[in-house]
Amino acid sequence: MSRQLFARKPIAELLVEGESPYALKRALGAGDLVMLGIGAVIGAGIFGAIGTAAAGQYDAAGHLVRSGAGPALVLSFLFLGVACALAGLCYAELAAMIPQAGSAYAYSYATLGEIVAWIIGWDLILEYAVGNVAVAISWGDYFTSLLRSFDLHLPVWLTTGYRTALLSPDPALHGLLQSAPHVAGIPLLVNVPAFVIVALITWLLMLGVRESATANNIMVTIKLLVLGLFVVAGLTHINAANYHPFAPNGFRGVHQGAAIVFFAYIGFDAISTAAEETKNPQRNLPIGILGGLAICTVIYMIVGAVLTGMVPYTELGVADPLSKALNSAGFTTVGWIVALGAIISMSAVLLVFQYGQPRIFFAMGRDGLLPPWAARVHARTRVPHITTLITGVFVGLWSLIGDAGETYNLTNIGTLFAFVLVCAGVLVLRYTDRERPRPFRVPFVWIVALTGAALCLFVMIGLPLETWVRFAVWLIIGLALYISYGYRHSKLHVAPRAAP
Ligand code: ALA
Repeated sequence: MSRQLFARKPIAELLVEGESPYALKRALGAGDLVMLGIGAVIGAGIFGAIGTAAAGQYDAAGHLVRSGAGPALVLSFLFLGVACALAGLCYAELAAMIPQAGSAYAYSYATLGEIVAWIIGWDLILEYAVGNVAVAISWGDYFTSLLRSFDLHLPVWLTTGYRTALLSPDPALHGLLQSAPHVAGIPLLVNVPAFVIVALITWLLMLGVRESATANNIMVTIKLLVLGLFVVAGLTHINAANYHPFAPNGFRGVHQGAAIVFFAYIGFDAISTAAEETKNPQRNLPIGILGGLAICTVIYMIVGAVLTGMVPYTELGVADPLSKALNSAGFTTVGWIVALGAIISMSAVLLVFQYGQPRIFFAMGRDGLLPPWAARVHARTRVPHITTLITGVFVGLWSLIGDAGETYNLTNIGTLFAFVLVCAGVLVLRYTDRERPRPFRVPFVWIVALTGAALCLFVMIGLPLETWVRFAVWLIIGLALYISYGYRHSKLHVAPRAAP
C-alpha cells in the first residue's frame, strides 16, 4: 500500500502526454505568459485587501483580529515579493522540466509521490476555485458601487450574498436577513453580478485558449494604465505627515499585514498550468513566471507607498481603499475611473484562475485520480470543456451566496502550502533525478528552496487559528475522496495489475 501512496509518475511519461494528439493546443509565447501572470496577480488584493493590510482587521464587535502594517506596508510587499520570488524560482525549474498542465500537482506526482500529489491537487482548489469566489464577490461590490456613482441602484438583496449578510458587523447588511424577500422561510440574498461575471468568463473560456489570451492582454493593458493614473494623481497629494509613524505595529504589523495582502501575489504561479499550451515552454515559462512577479512587486510597492502617503493609514480599512483615497483628495472622476479599472483587473484574474482550475482537474483525470470525463478535451476547441463548465458552476454558485472575507484566508493558506511543497519538490528531484536535463536551474538551490519554504511557512503562521482548522478539515475531506476513488483508479495502480 505504501508503495502506491508514494509511487512517483515517471517524468518521461509526463512529457509524452504534453505532445500526444489528445493534448492541448500550443499557442502561447513568453509575452502572453507575462501578461497572463499580471492578469492573474493584480486584482482584488491590490484594489481591496491592501486597505485592511494597512489599517488592520477588526471583528464584528470591533476587536482587533490582526494588526495593520501602516505605511510599512511597502515592507510587507517587499517581504512577500522575496518569498514569492524564491518559490517562483522553484516553480520555474519544475515547470520548465515538466511542462505539464497540472502545475504543482504534476510536479509533486513526479517528485513526492501520489498521495502528496493528490493532496496538492485538492489543495489547489482552494487557490484557484475558492480564490475566484472571493474575487467574483469583490468584483460584484465594485460593479455595484460603480453603478451607484451613475445613480443606478440595484436592490441590495440582489447584490449581497447570504453569508455576507449573516457575517457582516454592519447593521444595515445584517438587517437584510429580515428585510429581504423570503422564499419558503429562507431570505433571498443573492449576489447576481458576481454570478453573471463568472458565467461570462466561463463562456469565454469555452471558446478556446487563443481567444482568451487576447482578451486577457487587453484587460492587463487597461489595469496597468489605471494603476498608473492612480499613482500620478496620488503623487500630487502626498502628505509626508502620513508616513509617521512608519511602522505603528512594528514587525508584528508588517508580518500580519503580509499574511492579509498575500492574496495580492497569488497567481504568478498560475501560468504554469499553461505549460502544455506554451510554445517552447523550457524558455518561456521561467520568463513568464519571474517577469510577471517582478513587475507586480514593483507596482505594489509604488501603489502602497502612494496610498499610505495620501490618507492616514487608519482610514484605509474599507472595501475600495484606492477610490476612497482619490475621492478624499478631490479626484472624484479619477476615483470612478479607478473603480472601473478594478472591475477590469478582477475580470482578468477571474479569467486566469477559471482557466487554471480545469487544467488541474484535467491532469488529475488523465492520471485516473478523477473520473475519465475530467480528462476529456473538446474536439474542435481543444479545451477541457467539461471541467471548465464544472469549475464555472462551482464558483458561480458559491459566489452567489458566499462571503469574500471568509474565503480569502482559506485561499492564502492553501496557496502557501502548495508553495512549500514545490520548494521541497525541487530539492527532492535534484537528489533523485540528478541527470535529467534542466532547461532552467535554480541558482544556490539549497538556500533558495529552503529559505523559500521557510518564508512561506512564516507567512502561514500570520493567519488565524480558525483558518488552520478549516484547512485541516478541507484536507481530511480530500483524503477521504482519495481513499474512496483515486487510490483504486489511479493509472499507476491499475497499469501494473493489467500487465501479465
Ligand atoms: N492576486 C489575485 C488578486 O489579487 C488573486 O485578485
